[in-house]
Amino acid sequence: MIDSECTVLHITDCHLFEDTTVVKNGVNPFASLRAVLTAACDTKTPDVVVASGDIAHDPVPETYRAFNDMIRSFHEGPFMVTPGNHDIWNSMQPVFELQPVEFSSWTVVPLDTHVEGQVSGEVSYETILWLQQCLEHVNGHVIVVGHHPLVDIGVAWLDAHQVRNATDVLSVLQMHQNVQAYICGHVHLESYKQHHRLKLWTTPSTCWQFASDIDTFALSPLAPGWRWLELHLDGMIDTRVERLSMSQLAGIS
Ligand SMILES: [Fe+2]
Repeated sequence: MIDSECTVLHITDCHLFEDTTVVKNGVNPFASLRAVLTAACDTKTPDVVVASGDIAHDPVPETYRAFNDMIRSFHEGPFMVTPGNHDIWNSMQPVFELQPVEFSSWTVVPLDTHVEGQVSGEVSYETILWLQQCLEHVNGHVIVVGHHPLVDIGVAWLDAHQVRNATDVLSVLQMHQNVQAYICGHVHLESYKQHHRLKLWTTPSTCWQFASDIDTFALSPLAPGWRWLELHLDGMIDTRVERLSMSQLAGIS
C-alpha cells in the first residue's frame, strides 16, 4: 500500500465524568479512554487526532481540561473537538475552538451538530453558511467531522436522533467535490454508508457500546474502540476500526 499523506485517529463519545473513578454501564470512561489512547498510539503515530463529541458526561470545564491534558500526554500535533449532545459549549470554549485543521493537502472541518439540551442534532443556519464559506476557500481534500449522523444507520432509536436538517447539510457537502467523507459518533457503534459520492462513517465509543441489531436501546458486549483514517494524495481514504483486546480491557471497569 502507498503511504498515506495524513493519518487521522478518530475517537468519540468518551463520556468523561469529573470524578475519574465513576463507573457507568460497566465501564470507567476515564480509564477506558486512557486504554484506547495507549493501544492506538502504541501501534501508530497519528498526524491529527479528532474527537467528535460527547466528550463529557459531566460537562464542566474541569472535565474538558482533564480530557485535553490526557490527549496532550499522547499527541502534540493538531487536535480537533466537536461538541455532542452531552456537551455544553460554554464549558468547552475555554479549552477548545471550532476551527478547521490543515495537514498536508487535507483539511479536517468541524461541524457543530449539537443543540444545547437536546438529544437529536441540528445544524444552525449560521453554521451552514459558515460551512459553505469554509468549503469554498479550502484547497485539496476535505473530511467533515460532526457528532450526529446525517443518514440512517439502521437502528431506529438512534436514527431518530440524526441531524434534523441533514438534507441541507448533505446538499452543501455534495456541492463541493473535494469533500470526501463525513465522520461522526453519537451511535456508539461502527457503521459505513454512502450518499452519492460522499462516504459516511460512524466510530465506536471509547467507553460503552450500543447494540446494532435491535431497534430499542441495548448495550453491546463489544469492546471500546477507535478509528484510523489514512488520507491519500488522490483523495482516497483507507479506514479501519480497532478495539481493545481482552488484556487491554483489564482495569477499565
Ligand atoms: Fe454518546
